[in-house]
Amino acid sequence: MTLHKNAIAPHGGCLINRLATADQNALFLDKAATMPRLGLDERAFSDLVMIAIGGFSPLDGFMGKADYDGVVAHMRLASGLAWSIPITLSVSAAVAAPLQEGTWIRLDDPNGRFVGVLELREKYSYDKGREALQVYRTEDPNHPGVQVVYDQGPVNLAGPIWLLQRDPHPQFPRYQIDPARSRQLFQERGWQTVVGFQTRNPIHRAHEYIQKCALETVDGLFLHPLVGATKADDIPADVRMRCYEIMLEHYFPPERVMLAINPSAMRYAGPREAIFHALIRKNYGCTHFIVGRDHAGVGDYYGTYDAQYIFDEFEPADLGIIPMKFEHAFYCTRTGGMATSKTSPSLKEERIHLSGTKVRDMLRRGELPPPEFSRPEVASELARVMRVRDALS
Ligand code: ADX
Repeated sequence: MTLHKNAIAPHGGCLINRLATADQNALFLDKAATMPRLGLDERAFSDLVMIAIGGFSPLDGFMGKADYDGVVAHMRLASGLAWSIPITLSVSAAVAAPLQEGTWIRLDDPNGRFVGVLELREKYSYDKGREALQVYRTEDPNHPGVQVVYDQGPVNLAGPIWLLQRDPHPQFPRYQIDPARSRQLFQERGWQTVVGFQTRNPIHRAHEYIQKCALETVDGLFLHPLVGATKADDIPADVRMRCYEIMLEHYFPPERVMLAINPSAMRYAGPREAIFHALIRKNYGCTHFIVGRDHAGVGDYYGTYDAQYIFDEFEPADLGIIPMKFEHAFYCTRTGGMATSKTSPSLKEERIHLSGTKVRDMLRRGELPPPEFSRPEVASELARVMRVRDALS
């Protein structure tokens, strides 16, 4: 099917596809025994997949030094195209030393399975403190994204990659909708404008409110929970996906909403990650992207609306996807509905909102979050899962 002329272009103009062809696969399998072997951790493996399926277009591999330096310093690839997060493959000096530029490297997933190939073009060292400060705005090793940078090796391996095959997701095969497919489905549904929603937390009423406010003005809502690596105390992806299924059964019109997984890993880079999240959704075919309060934030590292202000550092055409910015939403007891300070005259004590930590603590104590915060069906599912998991641990 050809794409409708109104379909939004992927970032950089063309959707990258780095799935090995049958011939390439045969060649790689033939050479596998002679290639140096590199094991990928969960995050690097998800980056490999995202590159291969075009989620990170225009990247066709792990970043070389020119791209890396431009991205870290001023959020631009060497080509001048906007990009905010380094996508790198870091290894120890001992692993890097024998690897020769110009050769193929066999990439194994975290289970040791041969899943991809890197054509090594470049090896380079980098400044971790600089990356932390520029990308995460802090050098604090307690920041979960900075911690990953400090823990990884000091040498980046760069070059184009191939993914040998696209396996169905082990947990959510039904919701594995890659960018080429989501674009096609948007076309088939006649959606010319689609708003993307990033999330790593169980859906609550403030999420639902901003999703629905956004949907009021566009054709479709692309619910795109992140299911790659997250920090240990985040609610696991299977629980979050179940909550979304429950919400779709009861609270959304199915013909206007599409649920799909985003396989990438969380960075917790706040503002920089909001840009990254928007570009990913552009590649999936979204025309709009929701940025609410403290998007992709963690702790107190970022101001509540920093992830919205960063969009002002770009010309709209540089990004090519429209941010839909929402203030902190809450349940307003005075007006009896969801609102923000833009739409409600309430005083602070008339606003019901709970932090993720508070909700987790309540669930652990066996209490259900109130219906003003969470739909009852979702609250009881969360409580049920927490009970089962606590009993098992
Ligand atoms: S995130 O790390 O993926 O940003 P989360 O799943 O909590 O975390 O948020 C998903 C999206 O909803 C983000 O755009 C975030 O800014 C927004 N959001 C979360 N809670 C609220 C709220 N109470 N009011 C407005 N926006 C919110």
